[in-house]
Amino acid sequence: MHTHINELFTGLWHDYLTITPSAHKIHTLLKAHNGKAELVNDHIALRTFAIPGIAVSDLALHFIQLGYVKSGEYDFSSKKLNAWHYQHPDPNLPKVFISELKVNELSPVSQAIISEIIDSMDFNAVAQPDFLYSGTHWQISETDYRTLLNESEYAAWLAAWGFRANHFTVSVNHLSSMTELSEVNALLKASGFTLNTAGGEIKGDPSVCLAQSSTMADQMPIKFSDNTVTLPSCFYEFAQRYPLPNGELYQGFVAASADKIFESTNVN
Ligand code: NI
Repeated sequence: MHTHINELFTGLWHDYLTITPSAHKIHTLLKAHNGKAELVNDHIALRTFAIPGIAVSDLALHFIQLGYVKSGEYDFSSKKLNAWHYQHPDPNLPKVFISELKVNELSPVSQAIISEIIDSMDFNAVAQPDFLYSGTHWQISETDYRTLLNESEYAAWLAAWGFRANHFTVSVNHLSSMTELSEVNALLKASGFTLNTAGGEIKGDPSVCLAQSSTMADQMPIKFSDNTVTLPSCFYEFAQRYPLPNGELYQGFVAASADKIFESTNVN
């Protein structure tokens, strides 16, 4: 069972690195600081549209088949998103955070653009595990991308990059050389990486049992049907978890913090 889980995360990781070269550099840097021990991935995040056939519940089936359990629900009303997180009984396996855009709350023009790109998809592909890192299944023009961007950064990102891990997350709790998220942030900044400062460099704190930070997404070329444009791709996240009153580390997410983490892919 774990073989399949490892294969899936390896596929997601390699796809993610192709458009997130800074994550490879940071991974190498932190691993060197960690006595060359492998880093532990706290979670990945996936994005999709709330459309039957490709909604969170459809994507999550891949993880449920591998033993994952739906564990937490989150609402981001200002961004028109719902999200759930899934975790495996083995606490060493990464959690999976999947969000979906409530397309029916967008303007008619944005809804029409999304309908058009989705109509060109083969929905049978969704059942294949590699669908989770298959990218786009459509062509979109830069004009339509910009129309979506005016209304929803999330819609525009998803239309440009498609289905893939939006970020991986280093578990600070599992680092041997550093114990605090602030130390990780200091090392990253000293090494020239840019952190997301929306809502403060560190989102959350011990009072909510989770502190998170992230880089700003890399800038990578996207080939639209009419033009090639350099845009934010994916980012790397860092999470420090704190114990609940029962002594166990909190395993959920904090909506107010995740709301700001989403902005790591904002277009300037
Ligand atoms: Ni995250």
